[in-house]
Amino acid sequence: MKRGLRSRLSKYGDEEFAFFLRRGFLKGAGYTDAALDKPIVGILSTASDFNPCHATAGQLADRIAAGVREAGGLPFVFPTISIHESFSYPNSMLLRNLMSMDTEEMLKALPLDAAVLIGGCDKTIPAEIMGAISADMPTMIIPVGPMLAGHHEGRVLGACTDCRRLWGSFRAGEIDQVELDRAHDHLMPTAGTCMVMGTASTMAAIAETLGFSLPGTSTAPAVSSERMRLAHATGMHAVTMAKDGSPRPSEFLTPASFRNASAVLQATSGSTNGVVHLAAMAGRAGIRYDLDELDQLGRDVPVLINLKPAGQHFAEHFHAAGSVPALWRRMRDYLDLSQKTVTGETLGEIVDRWPAWTDDEIIRPLDRPVVEGDAIAVLRGSLAPDGAVIKLSAATPKLCQHEGTAVVFSSVADLEKRIDDPNLDVTPDSVLVLQNAGPIGAPGMPESGALPIPKKLATKGVKDMVRISDARMSGTAFGTVVLHVAPEAAAGGPLGLVRDGDRIRLDSAGRKLDLLVEPAELARRKAEWKPLAQPKRGYGRLYHDHVMQSNEGADFDFLRGEEA
Ligand code: FES
Ligand code: MG
Repeated sequence: MKRGLRSRLSKYGDEEFAFFLRRGFLKGAGYTDAALDKPIVGILSTASDFNPCHATAGQLADRIAAGVREAGGLPFVFPTISIHESFSYPNSMLLRNLMSMDTEEMLKALPLDAAVLIGGCDKTIPAEIMGAISADMPTMIIPVGPMLAGHHEGRVLGACTDCRRLWGSFRAGEIDQVELDRAHDHLMPTAGTCMVMGTASTMAAIAETLGFSLPGTSTAPAVSSERMRLAHATGMHAVTMAKDGSPRPSEFLTPASFRNASAVLQATSGSTNGVVHLAAMAGRAGIRYDLDELDQLGRDVPVLINLKPAGQHFAEHFHAAGSVPALWRRMRDYLDLSQKTVTGETLGEIVDRWPAWTDDEIIRPLDRPVVEGDAIAVLRGSLAPDGAVIKLSAATPKLCQHEGTAVVFSSVADLEKRIDDPNLDVTPDSVLVLQNAGPIGAPGMPESGALPIPKKLATKGVKDMVRISDARMSGTAFGTVVLHVAPEAAAGGPLGLVRDGDRIRLDSAGRKLDLLVEPAELARRKAEWKPLAQPKRGYGRLYHDHVMQSNEGADFDFLRGEEA
């Protein structure tokens, strides 16, 4: 009997007998002794009929398996839960931590020597990386890849930036149902993840920058043959990792790799969700995620990637322009290129061998950024003592310095009930405030932060207003939207003490967010404040009792790694 590989070892009682039994069951499934002597690569397939973004995951798993076999390994495909943004009631973020636990526990429980995790739709890659860091097994990430762009009557459409734009036009009465229906057929033209710089594209680029993927893997379109070849190559490399038992995430993740990821988040004008996920992933690795460093990187690093919603183009164009390594080359002064990846190559070594050609329109030179000014900024002040974020590159410049009167909604349900009320006391200068939509509050910190413009203003042509909440916002959305206010309203933060008519000052340039109410009055309101009811049972109870605030990644307190 060959020993040494992790997959041969067993912690299920009598080691020799357990191994004898396990092989017996596998022989019962048709495997030969010779096959079972090979190193085992687990392939986490997140294929699910309820996850249309992952429609190609099964095909991808087949190609990874082919690569594993070619390199002399034995592939075993296994499932975890699979989370799609539009099929996760009440919201996908609530399930991210559960998927991370599922991933971690399966990686630890299954007799495998290395793993390839297929992710893509927004929460899946963060959940997988969180689980992989905690399991600390040799692991690679391969995204399902982005959709191709859609074409509709002379326009190129992007999911879901144009989903929002079209819906906004429909709400404002600018287009009718028939036109909306025609465009609908072309919004999601292929399988794959949203093909703008939304959360899926952002997290794929971050996974690659952290070192979890083969270079160029994050941007190849879902339906391209290149993605299938990358899957094959990923499977082959996973066998090397299975034989070596290395590298584990703890062998290549460092504070500098997270700093690199933050820089890429800024240079891509990536999703604000990336901030929460980076904080959670760093926390698993025992690394404190530094919001102030993220803010400083935002000031230093120009937005170079010309993808919607900040720019004009789509993921397939980013891929054709040289993908993430071409971006690393452009922004090399802001990166620590000595950081290693799963292949053992450093980012710098990848940059050095990567084809020199790029498309300056898609990956802009440093002196010709996509937007003047910063991408994601971190605000602090009396309304957000532990921080809040704003995506300046998606905001209206003149609203970024604004003082206005609060119009307060106490919950997502209250917002839905009253936002279109013709009697709502609101003007274009009002500040819309949503409370109790944070990690504990909603629960699950839904993407409710881009509050709709009240219908009575939208129909008059108002496109943007200052909006503030403890919620998140889709990476494909735009507007002057302050998110992730911490501490959240439901944790007793000042956001929960705001009342209609209070003055709020947003000073984005000064990175300040203040509630202009006397401390004595706030203390009086705080004394009257009551926490929300605790859920009685189940996962909701676990979530409520253990979720941390957004500046700590909204992970569970008991899942954090030990600080190094
Ligand atoms: Fe799946 Fe956008 S909804 S990636
Ligand atoms: Mg900048």
